[in-house]
Amino acid sequence: MRFQFEDRGILIENNRQPLIEVDPMFPQRWSPRAFSPEPIPEEALQILFEAARWAPSCYNEQPWLFLYASKEKEKAQFLKILVDQNQTWAKNAPVLAFLFARRNFSRNNKANLWAAFDCGAAWMSLALQARTMGLYAHGMAGYHHDMAYDLLNMSKEEYEVICAIAIGSYGDIKDIPSSVAAMEKPNDRKPLEEVAIQWKS
Ligand SMILES: Cc1cc2nc3c(=O)[nH]c(=O)nc-3n(C[C@H](O)[C@H](O)[C@H](O)COP(=O)(O)O)c2cc1C
Repeated sequence: MRFQFEDRGILIENNRQPLIEVDPMFPQRWSPRAFSPEPIPEEALQILFEAARWAPSCYNEQPWLFLYASKEKEKAQFLKILVDQNQTWAKNAPVLAFLFARRNFSRNNKANLWAAFDCGAAWMSLALQARTMGLYAHGMAGYHHDMAYDLLNMSKEEYEVICAIAIGSYGDIKDIPSSVAAMEKPNDRKPLEEVAIQWKS
């Protein structure tokens, strides 16, 4: 399946070829860097977080916490936490978020070793919901760890910072540096037989 798709009049080449037919929502989710600064209405943002809320989690703990910024002053704070390379493109996104995981189970205060896994499920729900609304979510590990706790006023003891996220609609590739623009197309995956193996005794 070689296809192109149009996003707000912009033709995006998507060479992703699923090895077996799957719901197109999977290959159509990708992580662009050319975001449009066009604001996202608060109601639309709430839909994204609502999708994340329904993710499964160990003991239904729901360890995720999304801190988000869509207002200029707060967004500038969030942006400072990102590494320079991510700042060059994420500055255009109308919403920046940080995903935190509560480290311990609320039921017994013991370490929740699955909290990061559950946050991954919540993030993916948000990312897939975003695509259904013509939006994109781009996860980022490139941020200054300690600064995330300091600037966002979060307890390191209670929470683990998992990921930063840029959210928005597709913009103009001319608005990002050429080094970043070179990566601006949906990428491929390892072959299926490398990632799913029928175990034999
Ligand atoms: C946890 C995580 C961290 C990532 N960190 C960064 C990052 O710091 N900067 C960046 O440009 N992309 C980052 N990405 C995007 C990945 O490079 C991208 O998801 C991967 O290449 C697969 O491409 P796709 O999301 O378009 O399918 C990150 C993605 C994830 C899930």
